[in-house]
Amino acid sequence: MTEALATPQQLNHTMTKTKRALTGIQPSGELHIGNYLGAVRNWIRLAQRQEMFTSIVDYHALTSPLDSEELAQKTFDMAVAILAAGLDPEKATLFVQSQIPEVTELTWIYLTLTPIGELERMTQFKDKASRQQSILSGLLTYPVLQAADILIFKAEEVPVGEDQVQHVELTREVARKFNLAYGQTFPEPKAIVPEVGGRIKGLDGKTKMSKSLGNTIGLLEPPQEAWDKLRVAKTDPARLRRSDPGDPHSCNIFNLHRNFSPKTTVDMVEVECARAGIGCVDCKKFLFEHMESEFRPIRERAADYQAKPQQVKEILASGAEKARKVARQTMTEVHEKVGFYKP
Ligand code: TYM
Repeated sequence: MTEALATPQQLNHTMTKTKRALTGIQPSGELHIGNYLGAVRNWIRLAQRQEMFTSIVDYHALTSPLDSEELAQKTFDMAVAILAAGLDPEKATLFVQSQIPEVTELTWIYLTLTPIGELERMTQFKDKASRQQSILSGLLTYPVLQAADILIFKAEEVPVGEDQVQHVELTREVARKFNLAYGQTFPEPKAIVPEVGGRIKGLDGKTKMSKSLGNTIGLLEPPQEAWDKLRVAKTDPARLRRSDPGDPHSCNIFNLHRNFSPKTTVDMVEVECARAGIGCVDCKKFLFEHMESEFRPIRERAADYQAKPQQVKEILASGAEKARKVARQTMTEVHEKVGFYKP
């Protein structure tokens, strides 16, 4: 892990003043190298130097088709994967979103302040809605729930991949609208996106790596299965034969090298690919070696956590307790500002 995960300005900023961060991940059933590089690896680093809350967002998961019998297990598995990746639960409170019902309560209040037009403009909504025959309102209002996730903790920073930046901008807008209507209450948070891992493409080399598109490599996959996928992953589309010089900058594998390999390997690959000194399979073998040295200990830690489910449950329970305390405080303030009846 050699590349800076956040820009120097971002790191200086977080080092000089401690701000609270909040982030979230859907219990999709798989921590893959896209959400690992775009988000989780950055969380682990940021949690070393600032207060953080990490939500496994199961309410959000309801906006995609899911099997109720699997939801709790997938939520647990995501907690295992995040902990195994190295998130310190003492520093980055880890909890399950549905354990904090105040989040949906705040969502309703925000919905009364959010114009439909702003939600219809969201790229993720347009993309997902274009693939559905009947568009459910939960898909449209998804980013308002995300705003409540963030603002109920009065978080000022939100470490995410590039695809979530627009949702964080909407969160700022929601905070502004609430403050204008009811008085200064919420900060306007900003997104923290890693310098090189913010948008990881899938194995097709074209679309974003995403579980729903089936183009992922999972962090906890057995090495042989991961290698079988990487071996056939798309490279520079213009490099047809081994003897053709490649363009590393149009190759997804080179981008992964920039995320996983030491600088000496990145420099070597950049030069040798461009003069056809190495072929794509060699290049992938070097990459896989570095991925494996990062993933092997993560798989081992995941096996440990799987063997001690009680430990994971306790981490999630104490995370929920801590998160709920903060959420309740915010909601007491919100009730007062909105002017709700007090018995
Ligand atoms: P989700 O579950 O899709 O992804 C979790 C995090 O991983 C990042 N990510 C990626 N980064 C780079 N390349 C990729 N291919 C890639 N795929 C995923 C995402 O940007 C995200 O940071 N709506 C959010 C979850 C959420 C949330 C929040 C995030 C709910 N509430 C509050 C932050 C704060 C989502 O669906 O992420």
